[in-house]
Amino acid sequence: MMDVGRHPNIVLMAYSEVEEIAGYVGNFTVRVRKKARYVDEDECTACGDCVEPCPVVKADEFQMGLSTRRAIYIPFPQAVPSAYIINAHECLGNNPIACGKCREACEKDCIDFDMQDEIVEIKVGAIVVATGMDVYDPTPMDEYGYTSYTNVITSMEFERLISAGGPTEGHLVRPSDRTQPRRIGFIQCVGSRTALAENNPDGARGNPYCSNICCMNTVKDSLLLKDHYPDTDIAVFYMDIRAFGKGFEDLYMRSRAEGVRYIRGLPGEVEEDPATGNLVVHVENTTTGLLEQHEFDMLVLSVGAIPRQETDAVRQLLTLSRTGDGFLMEAHPKLRPVDSPTRGVYIAGCAESPKDVKDSVTQASAAAARVEILLNAPTIKVEAITAVVDEELCKKCGQCADACPYSAIVWEKKQVARVISAACAGCGTCSAECPYGAITMRHFTDQQIYAMLDAFLAEDPQEKFIAFACNWCSYAGADTAGTSRLQYPPNARIIRTMCSGRVRPDFVWYAFRKGAPVVLVSGCHYADCHYISANRKAVERVDVLWEGLEAAGVRPERLQLDWCSAAEGQKWARIMREIEELRAAVTAEEIDQARQALQEAKIPKRSRLDKLEKPTPATMRCYRCGNEWAVVFDPHADAERMCAACRSNSVRVMIDGEL
Ligand code: FES
Repeated sequence: MMDVGRHPNIVLMAYSEVEEIAGYVGNFTVRVRKKARYVDEDECTACGDCVEPCPVVKADEFQMGLSTRRAIYIPFPQAVPSAYIINAHECLGNNPIACGKCREACEKDCIDFDMQDEIVEIKVGAIVVATGMDVYDPTPMDEYGYTSYTNVITSMEFERLISAGGPTEGHLVRPSDRTQPRRIGFIQCVGSRTALAENNPDGARGNPYCSNICCMNTVKDSLLLKDHYPDTDIAVFYMDIRAFGKGFEDLYMRSRAEGVRYIRGLPGEVEEDPATGNLVVHVENTTTGLLEQHEFDMLVLSVGAIPRQETDAVRQLLTLSRTGDGFLMEAHPKLRPVDSPTRGVYIAGCAESPKDVKDSVTQASAAAARVEILLNAPTIKVEAITAVVDEELCKKCGQCADACPYSAIVWEKKQVARVISAACAGCGTCSAECPYGAITMRHFTDQQIYAMLDAFLAEDPQEKFIAFACNWCSYAGADTAGTSRLQYPPNARIIRTMCSGRVRPDFVWYAFRKGAPVVLVSGCHYADCHYISANRKAVERVDVLWEGLEAAGVRPERLQLDWCSAAEGQKWARIMREIEELRAAVTAEEIDQARQALQEAKIPKRSRLDKLEKPTPATMRCYRCGNEWAVVFDPHADAERMCAACRSNSVRVMIDGEL
């Protein structure tokens, strides 16, 4: 931090918040609110004279509430700038001044209660998001007694207790009586790998993913304890120890050799002896199959990592996407691991996924190198696949601008839409949204797609089905199926689009008019679209199409929707087999009837679901296996629809009655 603070080419804006980001790669404008510190950071020498007289005592967040601070404080010992700050919400002296004792004590006269927030606008060419992570709050998993027993602490609290800069200056004491604990237990995976998503819908009992760092953190803590307090009896309760990094297995073996007991099994219950404050852990040792009890002076819950709440605000500012676990999604997990889907924006550290210091440094170095490459290039090269507006056809409605996940379309009332090529990622969502066909995509033009449909359905259309597959996942999944030599019926005719969001409803309508028995729209898994949220648009359009087909007397089941990732060759083959079964069941009469009906019928403009404002009872119907189940459908919840019976995503929301 000191190096960063002193570097001539780095402007450090501490205690500031990004409020707005506009522009595109090479040309971002960032609006930052520099919050008032009420202490002149240039004049303050951090002498600390102001602290003593401050009457406000608060729990110190940095020390995990294990010690206190005043309303005027330095956020943490190595903070840069090393200057005091006043928390305006806690201070008694700010507006109107009722106290002002710190100001009286400050000889250098650094305290200014009239200081105001400052808005700064900066121009940057690239942005790195490195917003870090939070740790899981174990309150909901109360079988471990975190909320009831003082001597049950989290691994973060333990870190502060054994840190030389911590509240006890590194002396390990247990919270209840400040005596040195002789027997310490660690419970692993608290909040990680805890529950399957279906058994834990609100995520309160932790997350299904592995937090990556907790095993080695406990191994490190156990060695530290053995080093400082060799007589301490240490036991670690675990599911399995994940020591996968360079030198990690050695460290783990060293910990075992030092006498740390590793007991395979997660405790079911923790009890406290009220007289002593000791803790009794009940556990099934899955190695021996025996139920055991272990007594400790202190218990440490090795809590998992969770995405930072504030990251969501940054995500919205930069139109980034998240993976299913809530961390930021990279542009490509193997080929572009530090790029975000928004050009010129990079991700580093735990904002992307939980990782240790070494991996964070590696990723940060990679992100810095990517920025260097971008900024040092004389010109910025963009992909050729971008949207193009036909000014003759544009009716100036602005629907394309609303649909663009990258805000790459500039539209003003009564003005023709304009695409910023540098910001356009080429998903094609705008093109699919435009009701007038005024936007097309270079290399994936409407004409090219219609030509493919014409060619595929020119002969024996009843023998084939059309599969729209997004470039990054479904098409790659089909490739994986091919390279893995998986067998599936050859009746699919695949049309590649960059994203499922590119599939214009007219393409589907056209395919049915041409005699296609079944059409499939497929793309990346719901939270994994490579164009932020463009596949949500695909779902909305499929809803509209299902309603339109039904209104025209065509079985809506003939339009299918499914998500398949690049690695899921098996899944792709299964989908192909299931859709071939559906195709075989479509009769020649049905195809003819649809051909005729859809000549006349129009695609509805909107789905009935758009009228829903609040959660409403609904029936979910799977158009793959016919399964039906009742739900309360929340139009504002961004939830994936999936059939529990066949795991297909061809699930329609059926609302009874008029809306
Ligand atoms: Fe695959 Fe959007 S990129 S669905």
